[in-house]
Amino acid sequence: MAVSSATLPDDLSGEIRALKAEARAQIGDVEGLFAAVSDFIAQEVADIEAVRAAGGDVWPQIEYADIANGRVTDAQVRDIKRRGCAVIRNHFPHEQAAAWDRQLVAYLDDNDFDRVYRGPGDDFFGSLSASRPPILPIYWSHPQMEARQHERMADVQSFMNRLWVHESEGRTWFDPDRNLLYPDRVRRRPPGTTSNGLGAHVDSGSVERWLHPAYQKVFRHVLNHEFDKYNPWDAAWRSDIGEYEGSTMCSAFRTFQGWTALSDMPADQGVLHTVPIPAAMIYVLLRPLLSDVPADSLCGAAPHQALPISEEWHPLLMRALTGVPKINAGDSVWWHCDVIHAVAPVTDQTGWSNVIYIPAAPWCDRNARYAQSVAEAFTEGRSPDDFPEEHYETAWNDRFGPAELNAYGRRGMGLGEA
Ligand SMILES: [Fe+2]
Repeated sequence: MAVSSATLPDDLSGEIRALKAEARAQIGDVEGLFAAVSDFIAQEVADIEAVRAAGGDVWPQIEYADIANGRVTDAQVRDIKRRGCAVIRNHFPHEQAAAWDRQLVAYLDDNDFDRVYRGPGDDFFGSLSASRPPILPIYWSHPQMEARQHERMADVQSFMNRLWVHESEGRTWFDPDRNLLYPDRVRRRPPGTTSNGLGAHVDSGSVERWLHPAYQKVFRHVLNHEFDKYNPWDAAWRSDIGEYEGSTMCSAFRTFQGWTALSDMPADQGVLHTVPIPAAMIYVLLRPLLSDVPADSLCGAAPHQALPISEEWHPLLMRALTGVPKINAGDSVWWHCDVIHAVAPVTDQTGWSNVIYIPAAPWCDRNARYAQSVAEAFTEGRSPDDFPEEHYETAWNDRFGPAELNAYGRRGMGLGEA
């Protein structure tokens, strides 16, 4: 049982019908608002297409050393806020990431993972998953824990958190300089892989984005027909959200999802793409309110699954899908929690495509609650509560141990102040 969850309504179809009727009544001119939002999005899409056509970089790229030394320019900050995503170059030295990659393989081999693995434990990606994602339910290796509790990780998470407004509406929504240690899985996609990738989607809730009371407050300006007041970087109410209970969910509030690369990845090898427009979520929210959508439909949103974005309902947004540039081992990649993302198909992949998932999840009541269950899972080597109960590592050799935690690791699980 995950913490910070909420209960799915018994009559989901009825709830959706009622919600849509209410939202239409409150907004009034839904078509007019949708047209205004679409105009804004269309300008962003045109800019993204123009940058791509000119061979430029849509994804902002920042050197870790510039973050550590306070040398990130205002223009770079504006660029990340506009696109909602970024690559942090040389977040870790290349040789450190390569060593972590080897250590991870040794950990899996030493514990006979290939023989004991029972196959995927969830169906989170549903129909989006045309081929099995090579994501391994491993949480407590030395490489993962060393990266999560590394000072360099804390530096970058703090920088990313500080892109948000964390005090507003008379409340402090989170502490940008302290992060929940959020355990997630690893991806190891081998050379020769042919994969259909993963369809465009958003995490951090699907039907919740319309139905959950805290999300209704997050998107209050939309319901009030005040799109110009909507700021995707205002954290107000976000830390009060709870996803509906499922076998794979996120109990934490994440300012950014992210991963750290353990291998070099050329840009044409089935890499992560985003729709680099944070406010595109408003388009997604309004789309089901239009008259061509069935009364109880949210354009494909279903409980317990990632929220799908499609050519059928969101063709304007799909035009903006843009891949990460070439990634080197040790770089990290980040995208705002509302940002639409996808994994491109690949045929006969050259080289490995290996990452450790590490988000930015700043300290707030919601994340402090989840930290308690993380600490328990860590102590026993269990799968964390947000993930299927697979528990491969409970008796594994060379699991990262409590004595190896540093101050960031302890603080990140609520185990004492640094
Ligand atoms: Fe995702």
